[in-house]
Amino acid sequence: MADLGFDGKVAIITGAGGGLGRSHARELARRGALIVVNDLGGSVDGSGSGTTAAQAVVDEIKAEGGEAVANYDSVATPEGGRAIVQTALDTFGRVDIVINNAGILRDTSFKNLGPEQLEPVLDVHLKGAFYVTQPAWEHLRNQGYGRIVSTASGAGIFGNFGQTNYGAAKMGLVGLTRVLAIEGAKYDIKANIIAPVAKTRMTEDILGPIADKLQPELVTPVVTYLAHEECAVTGEAYSVGGGRVARIFIGVTPGIVEAGLSAETVRDRLDDIRSEEGYAVPASLNEEMVLALKSLS
Ligand code: NAI
Repeated sequence: MADLGFDGKVAIITGAGGGLGRSHARELARRGALIVVNDLGGSVDGSGSGTTAAQAVVDEIKAEGGEAVANYDSVATPEGGRAIVQTALDTFGRVDIVINNAGILRDTSFKNLGPEQLEPVLDVHLKGAFYVTQPAWEHLRNQGYGRIVSTASGAGIFGNFGQTNYGAAKMGLVGLTRVLAIEGAKYDIKANIIAPVAKTRMTEDILGPIADKLQPELVTPVVTYLAHEECAVTGEAYSVGGGRVARIFIGVTPGIVEAGLSAETVRDRLDDIRSEEGYAVPASLNEEMVLALKSLS
């Protein structure tokens, strides 16, 4: 089969001044996409800003014969999101792909969590994806084509100490993506999630000895596929790192049905309720309702 090319497709990649975003940007550019390299250029905790990071990646892409433009707006405001999409329209005349990748960390235990840890993290990861994806959405709908890849994290999907803010924001992206997959279906807009692990400035102190096996370049192939016209899935999530790719899904067990359900029944039949045998993986609330109604009838 032919390689996955992106000739003429325009991709916005947020937070692409380093780490995973830089790797995605360079690879899509190598494959012929025209790239908006967005990056606010701040530190891991979101403080500060600068133009160097995004511009350096644009220079790298151009040196490799690709096409890219830098954008330094923050994803964390509606104006910033609009300006990022406008950069794609002004420079390349269209937008086809949005890769929501910008991120910051402000880890702390829930006991110590204050607004200064909560608000910026929700703003960048969760609201940022809304602020960038929404102005692009009307163009994707109008042209009947779009690919959206958002960057969640196992910290939210599975849970991780000290990351209530980050975990909630990241799991919020799963909800956003699942609904976008449904709303976008008839316009050939596909929206998917990755939950990556990679050695970047965000993680280099916490990954331990395995870090060197976790190059960002080993996450990018999954993003490349999910951003491509041939992508065959939507509303799905993939765990990616070090060359491993696995699907993450939300399933529901067959559970139990008891006409006179009581708290004691829940206690006594907890193992049956929790049993994973025969679980289903609904693609929408409708599918879950159909399952529920079937077992009730
Ligand atoms: P990174 O720190 O190298 O990249 C994040 C980029 O986002 C930075 O270049 C930063 O300047 C930019 N950014 C931050 N706030 C921004 C804003 N308001 N507007 C525009 N750009 C902004 O770290 P990494 O690891 O490459 O992170 C990329 C994404 O992957 C993040 O969303 C992160 O949460 C996620 N992730 C990374 C994992 C890993 O193992 N590296 C694990 C799970 C998720």
